[in-house]
Amino acid sequence: MLRLVVLISGGGSNLRALLEASEDAEFPARVVAIGADRDADGLAHGEEYGIPTFVVPFGAFETREEWGVELLSQLRQWEPDVVILSGFMRLLPPAVVAALAPGLLNTHPAYLPEFPGAHAVRDALAAGATETGATVIVVDDGVDTGPVIAQTRVPVLPGDTEARLHDRIKLVERGLLVQVVLDIANGHIDLKELS
Ligand code: GAR
Repeated sequence: MLRLVVLISGGGSNLRALLEASEDAEFPARVVAIGADRDADGLAHGEEYGIPTFVVPFGAFETREEWGVELLSQLRQWEPDVVILSGFMRLLPPAVVAALAPGLLNTHPAYLPEFPGAHAVRDALAAGATETGATVIVVDDGVDTGPVIAQTRVPVLPGDTEARLHDRIKLVERGLLVQVVLDIANGHIDLKELS
C-alpha cells in the first residue's frame, strides 16, 4: 500500500476523490493523514472517513522556515511514501521540498507551464484563453515549475465564470490525481526518473 499524506488549504474536493477511490479494497494507496495550514473546510472529509488530521498554522510562526520545520516533523510521523499538495496554497521552504523529493506532488488547475501561481483559473479567463486544463507535477523549488506527470486540456466555454470553469477543471483534476496515484503505486510511474 502506498502511504499518502494530503495537504490542503480549502474544501478538499481532490482529497475526497482519493478517499473515495480508497474505499475500493483493490486501490493500492491509502490516505494515512490529512494536513492543513489553517482550519480548512476539507478537514471534515478526514473526520468523515476516520483519517487523522493535523494543522500547522502558517501565522503561528515567525518565518516560513520555522513553519516548514514543524510541518515536516508532523508529516514524517506518518511515514508517507508520497505527499500531495492538493489545493495547498502555501509555498514550501526549499528544505522541506528537498526532504520530501521526489515524493512530493502538486495538483494545479491549468495546463502548465501555462498559468502558474495561485490564480490560474482567473488568469486563464483574463487572458481570453479558449482552453486551459489540469496538471499534476512533481514539486521543485519554483512556483509550479516541476516536471509534469500528467495533464489534460479543459475547454473554456462562453459565459464561463471563474467558479464555473474551476468546477469543470476540478472534475478532470480528480480523475488525473487518482490515476497518477494508481500509476505510482503500480510502478508505471517512477518519480525518481521524472525528477
Ligand atoms: C484545485 O483546483 C487545485 O488545483 C488548486 O486549488 C484547488 C483546490 O480544490 N490549487 C492551486 O491553485 C495551487 N496553485 P479542492 O480544495 O476542492 O481540492
